Amino acid sequence: MLDMDANEIRKKFLEFQEKRGHKVIQPAPLVLEGDPTTLFTSSGMQPLLPYLLGKKHPEGKRLTDVQPSLRMQDIDDVGDPRHTTVFEMLGNWSLGDYFKEEQIESFFEFLTKVVGLDPNKLYVTCFIGNEKYGIPKDNDTAEIWQRVFKNAGIEAKIAEIGSADEGDKRGVKPGERIFFYDDHENWWSRGGGLEDTPIGDPCGPDSEVFYDFGEDKQDVSRFGQAHPASDGARFMEIGNSVFMQYRRLEDGTFAELEQKNVDFGGGLERISAAAIGSFDVFKISLMKPIIDKLGKISGKSYDNNTDEMRVIADHIRGAYLLAAQGLVPSNKTQGYAMRRLLRRAILRALDLGIATNFLAEIVPVVADIYADLPDSILTQREKALEIMLHEEKTFRQTLNKGLRELKKMALSSHSGPRPAGPSTKVVCSSSSRKNEPARSSLDSSGSPPRAAGANSRAAALRNAPSRDESAILSGRDLFKLQDTYGFPMELSVEECYREGIKLTKNYREEFETALKEQRERSQTASKGMFKGGLEDHGEQTVKYHTATHLLLAALQKLVSPDIMQRGSNTTAERLRFDFNLDHKMTDEEKKAVEDQVNEWIKADLPVVFDEYDKAYARNTLKAHGQFWDKYPEKLRVYTIGDFEKPISREVCGGPHVEHTGVLGHFRIKKEESSSAGVRRIKAVLE
Ligand code: ALA
Repeated sequence: MLDMDANEIRKKFLEFQEKRGHKVIQPAPLVLEGDPTTLFTSSGMQPLLPYLLGKKHPEGKRLTDVQPSLRMQDIDDVGDPRHTTVFEMLGNWSLGDYFKEEQIESFFEFLTKVVGLDPNKLYVTCFIGNEKYGIPKDNDTAEIWQRVFKNAGIEAKIAEIGSADEGDKRGVKPGERIFFYDDHENWWSRGGGLEDTPIGDPCGPDSEVFYDFGEDKQDVSRFGQAHPASDGARFMEIGNSVFMQYRRLEDGTFAELEQKNVDFGGGLERISAAAIGSFDVFKISLMKPIIDKLGKISGKSYDNNTDEMRVIADHIRGAYLLAAQGLVPSNKTQGYAMRRLLRRAILRALDLGIATNFLAEIVPVVADIYADLPDSILTQREKALEIMLHEEKTFRQTLNKGLRELKKMALSSHSGPRPAGPSTKVVCSSSSRKNEPARSSLDSSGSPPRAAGANSRAAALRNAPSRDESAILSGRDLFKLQDTYGFPMELSVEECYREGIKLTKNYREEFETALKEQRERSQTASKGMFKGGLEDHGEQTVKYHTATHLLLAALQKLVSPDIMQRGSNTTAERLRFDFNLDHKMTDEEKKAVEDQVNEWIKADLPVVFDEYDKAYARNTLKAHGQFWDKYPEKLRVYTIGDFEKPISREVCGGPHVEHTGVLGHFRIKKEESSSAGVRRIKAVLE
């Protein structure tokens, strides 16, 4: 054993692949631009999709990189020794060049000769075939593995397992090292097994390599007999070679690709864990400094607070990588996932007794750990801390109010009858089987929670009685918490679970109904800090209001970046917009602005808002505002388009439409002088 650390393994992997004729390519950002099918980059192959389908890659047929990846779908499994949401994937690809033999031999060489793993600890799996779809059993791969093991002096018997459930019953027999499983284990596509392979996607049988941490690591009573695809801790998958030789067609069948590819993904954290002989990935060099720091801050030990520390370390790592790529927490899509990671970490820290801000101490440790990642990926390192601290500060305020309120509600909930239906105990998903359809993070299946047991509870914010089994909260209660205190529904649900507070069976529907009702109300009622020049909040007026934001953005983009709003008035019939400009707009300028606005409308861009501190909105978010001196300390900012590269971002009380697609066709009716140096546009939506 060479005891190589993760930074070294990352480096050695790229060197090893370079020597084998691979070109090192830049990994993609975690937030992939222009890919509406996915929130985050979750494997190294994702940015390479077109090339796996046959497009020529400018760097050739042999490529390699180390891709930071994020899988939010694994969030509920974090807490066990091996799952993380964020990880780095060692990748190498053959685009129609080498195939099974070279891939298997070279990966074995990397593991045993470069990293120094004991070949006796390695176990492998192959695809058993599928009659329904006419995909043959992958005997070639099994034979290659047998030969590779034989050359290392190891006799490798073959076992036919089938499903992972059968494996749980059967276990491993002496001498067995190569295992055939069905498509839920050994078929790879972005969607999962054969049935779940997305139409048009490349896919194929795969061969996974597992490291054996020893029989004593398997909790048989909980996970069944040990075998490679078990959820137990004896075997851990460390790498996966996908033989991408198929593509799914419109009719659901699979056709052979002309170009046979290899798509390899290795878990850097897991290989690093195997390299130090630890079945716990949180002991590796990319994690341990964070865990140590948490221990120092809380005065608690990892051994007694394992779950909490793992979750906090994982989530802060994930949030840091997102922040260092310029993502900002928000209430939509990627920004929301980031917010969830940070807020969960802060909640879990409460369980360690950390009830005050602590990110300022932890984030520099994480930044240090990732010093080796390229600047081309972590483009905003210097901003990451500020972004994270801001979220911590706001959430702490939310949290204090929200938790108090949640408990108050729970206490009063059983003093009178509840109108809601039967209650449901809220529990977390306990399965981590690969390719299982993504389950909601919380379900009512009755299976025991994996990451339970957060009872060494911090007293600071948690002095209300807990484990009050008779309290029942409804979706409306959760909505009130979100609406009034900004305490997100998901977090309320988690808190309820942790406190033993029951939820009504239909809490999600109740929540949605309350949300819808509130939206309808806000269409008709005037609220917010600024009326934004709106005479009323009717549907058409709201559309004109959003069109006004697009108009300003188009003017700034195409006519002059110095253009500011000087006045705005919006009715159900038209918008009127005044702005500074020293000349009458030419017909070309008017046409270009009109076309631009219509293009943005056609693109159906999302319109989102959030509340921010004034300085943050002005300096970090660079929101457009007219009256900075007059604005209150907390204000609302509307963003149109991609959150990172917005089309428009303005301080505004709203309301606005949710998507630009509903606006219709935009036409400038008149452009005229309003006063000295100020022009006025009247425009309509048709
Ligand atoms: N794309 C393959 C995976 O994610 C390597 O496992």
